Amino acid sequence: MSLSREQMLVEMGITPIWVLRDSEPAVEVREAAAKPETRAPAAEQAPAIVHEPAPVARPEPAAALRPMSPVDHLNWPELAKQVAECRACPLCEQRKQAVLGVGDLNPDWLFIGEGPGAEEDVKGEPFVGQAGKLLDAMLASLDIARGNRVYIANAVKCRPPGNRTPEAAEIAACWPYLERQIALLKPKIIVLLGKAAVHAVLHDDKSLASLRGKRYEYAGIPMVVTYHPAYLLRNLPDKAKAWEDLLFARRLLREAAAPELPF
Ligand code: URA
Repeated sequence: MSLSREQMLVEMGITPIWVLRDSEPAVEVREAAAKPETRAPAAEQAPAIVHEPAPVARPEPAAALRPMSPVDHLNWPELAKQVAECRACPLCEQRKQAVLGVGDLNPDWLFIGEGPGAEEDVKGEPFVGQAGKLLDAMLASLDIARGNRVYIANAVKCRPPGNRTPEAAEIAACWPYLERQIALLKPKIIVLLGKAAVHAVLHDDKSLASLRGKRYEYAGIPMVVTYHPAYLLRNLPDKAKAWEDLLFARRLLREAAAPELPF
């Protein structure tokens, strides 16, 4: 069944439609540290550099400044195999299977969540439970669908027991895989869904409320922060804010696709 845009927004719990604006949140360009050396817990990592005001020079990823990771040159089948066999942290002990990600391998959008839950652990695909249904509705409201112009990944590839939040060390152990996924996918926009994704890529533990509405970058790719769909299921009023964040991300994507000419 195909839903109208209005039905999709209703599905996301965002009505009436006229309260939504393609508003322009304050723009902050902030470089996430691309290609850090072996990932340490966020508290031990160098703080992200804040550049204000934009525009700002975008440094090349610091790949040359750090030792090669064994994951650095893997292609997709090799990466999938390595993730499936990974024993880098204790999460491997209770997983049914590792969940690499799903979607278009040449995407515009990359959404990064937290980690597989019980259903994802069984099915081997991210976001297939209730939070996944909401994520699909969010994608539909952007006229995109799982598998078409979008890839969905997680900060950690194995289910944390009891669906607890992954620990900093677990996120750090899984980082080389996510890092390699981003390098292979080369998305045009990255959306960080919730704190674990922010921790993994942006190395920041501030509140999502303070981080959203700003433009960040990872290896030259624009990036925004928004709430995790599971949080939105429990906090319905914040769905409107998530919708604003998605509109902001879409604007950044369009700007990246057609950068303004200097004349
Ligand atoms: N929540 C996530 O962050 N990822 C999933 O894959 C499922 C639920």
